[in-house]
Amino acid sequence: MERLMKTTSSEETFRLGERIGKRLQGGEVICLYGELGAGKTVLAKGMGQGLGVKEEITSPTFTLIQEYDIKDRQLQFIHMDLYRLQVLEEAEVIGVTDYFRDDCVCLLEWPEIITDLLPDDKIEIQLKGSGDLPRTILINTGDLELGL
Ligand SMILES: Nc1ncnc2c1ncn2[C@@H]1O[C@H](COP(=O)(O)OP(=O)(O)OP(=O)(O)O)[C@@H](O)[C@H]1O
Ligand SMILES: [Mg+2]
Repeated sequence: MERLMKTTSSEETFRLGERIGKRLQGGEVICLYGELGAGKTVLAKGMGQGLGVKEEITSPTFTLIQEYDIKDRQLQFIHMDLYRLQVLEEAEVIGVTDYFRDDCVCLLEWPEIITDLLPDDKIEIQLKGSGDLPRTILINTGDLELGL
C-alpha cells in the first residue's frame, strides 16, 4: 500500500500519526525518514497516542530509545532516534533489533544507519518539508494493507 498525504500543520501531522497508530497490531517496524524538523517526532507522538499510550511521549533524541507500555493490549511502543549513532555496531550494542518482536511496535527516526538490519516487511514513511511549509508524507506499507 502506498499513500501520499499532505499536511499543513503539526496538528494535522499528529492526527495522521494517530490514524496510523490505530491500525497497528504489534510486530510492525516503522521507519521515519526526513530532515531535521520534518515532523518525524510529531508523527511519532500521534502514532503512540493512536496505539493507546497514556503517558506523555517525549523525543528520544538524547535517550535513543524510549519504551512505553500499552497496558490493556500487552504491547509496547518503542520509539527510537538513531541520529546520534555513528556506526552500525553501536546499534547492535544497544540491542535495536531485540525490539523487532510481535509484542512491540517499533518506530525509528533516522533509521539509515541500520538499513542492513531492517526487516523486509517494514513500513516506510518519508516526510518532506520543514519550517512552516506544508509537509508531503509518503507512506509505504509494502504488502501490509493498513486501510488508511
Ligand atoms: N505540517 C507540519 N507537520 C509537522 N510538523 C510541523 C508542520 N508544520 C510545522 N511543523 C513544526 O515542525 C517541527 C517538527 O519537529 P519534529 O521534532 O517533529 O521534527 P523531527 O523530524 O522529529 O526532527 P529531528 O530530526 O530533529 O528529530 C515542529 O516544531 C512542528 O511544530
Ligand atoms: Mg525527532
